[in-house]
Formats: sequence, structure tokens, C-alpha cells
Amino acid sequence: MKQTCLLKDCSKILLTEEEIKVRVKELGEQITKDYQGKEPVMVCILKGASVFFVDLLRSINLPVRMEFMAVSSYGNSTDTSGVVRILKDLDHSVYGKDVIIVEDIVDTGLTLSYIKREMLGRGATSLAIAALLDKPERRKKPLEVDYKGFTIPNEFVVGYGLDYQERYRNMRDIGVLKEELYSK
Ligand code: PRP
Repeated sequence: MKQTCLLKDCSKILLTEEEIKVRVKELGEQITKDYQGKEPVMVCILKGASVFFVDLLRSINLPVRMEFMAVSSYGNSTDTSGVVRILKDLDHSVYGKDVIIVEDIVDTGLTLSYIKREMLGRGATSLAIAALLDKPERRKKPLEVDYKGFTIPNEFVVGYGLDYQERYRNMRDIGVLKEELYSK
């Protein structure tokens, strides 16, 4: 299905539905290998990661558990404190569990650094990060992504869960948003 009504707002497609599908399958296979004999708790950071989350989970041949967390950053985007507010917390404890945090994108790294610290503080046995996209140019806090989909340049991307003012999340491809749409 061509989503012409959404694609018209993009200056180019960065990653096609097919490219994403292939890579997500590879990440799922890698996680399956690495967690043999385990039942990892997969934590989806709402909302952006939701699309990647469901596709990734279905590429994993292990009995995983699903958890959801919603966070919002304090202060403005230039604030490097990295303190985030938890809007919706996990339903179950991660104490003694192998946790995999699933994100759509790592930008400054502040959100994930905080969540990582928080999960380890709660007694998770191990912690890994799966992120579909990584924008290393924007990093403010060093952060290793264990399962990375793609490294991308510093461009405004939307689709496959990523939004601009809550729009474009349902786009099947990932595209670069036309500059005139957000620079007004
Ligand atoms: C995005 C993304 C990460 C965070 C990454 O979420 O999903 O959670 O920003 O940025 P950072 O590395 O600079 O901390 P956003 O706040 O846009 O919310 P959303 O997922 O609901 O779109």
C-alpha cells in the first residue's frame, strides 16, 4: 500500500518498509540467539517505539514478556540533566529479570541513560538496549546500543512510529520530513 497522503510531506524516503523489515528480522534472530534459555522482559518506551516493538517481538523465537513505559523529559531539549518523569510505569517488577529496553531512536541519549539507570537500580539482572535508529551526532551522554537497526544522519525523520506533532506514526517507511513543515 502506498501512503501517498503521508509520503507527500517527506523530501525523501530514508528507509523503506522492506529494508526495515529485513533488519528487524535480523535483530530478532540475534536476540533469540543471545537469550537462549531465558525469558527476557521487553520494555517498550511509548509511543515512538510501539511499531518497532511489536515487529521485533514477533521476530523473536523465545517466550518474552511485554511491558510498557511512558516518560517525558523535564525541562527543555538543551537541558543535559537527563532527568525524565515517568508517566506510566511498568506493571511488574524487573527485579532478577533480563531486561531489554526497546526504543525507536536514540538522539541525545538522555532518556535511555535515565531509564537504564532506573532499571538497574530496580535490580534487573541484565540490561540491553534495542533501538531501531541511532543518531550518534546528537549524543550528549555516551550510550551503547546493543541491538541497533540503523545509524542515521542528523535529519528530522518520521514514520514507523516516529512522529512530528503526533502525525506520521503510521507511515510504513521512514522518511525525512520536508523542512518547510517544521521550520515555520
Ligand atoms: C523520543 C524517542 C526517545 C527519545 C530519544 O521520544 O522515542 O524516547 O525521544 O531522545 P533522547 O535520546 O534525546 O533522549 P519522544 O519524546 O519524541 O516521545 P514519543 O516516543 O512519544 O514520540
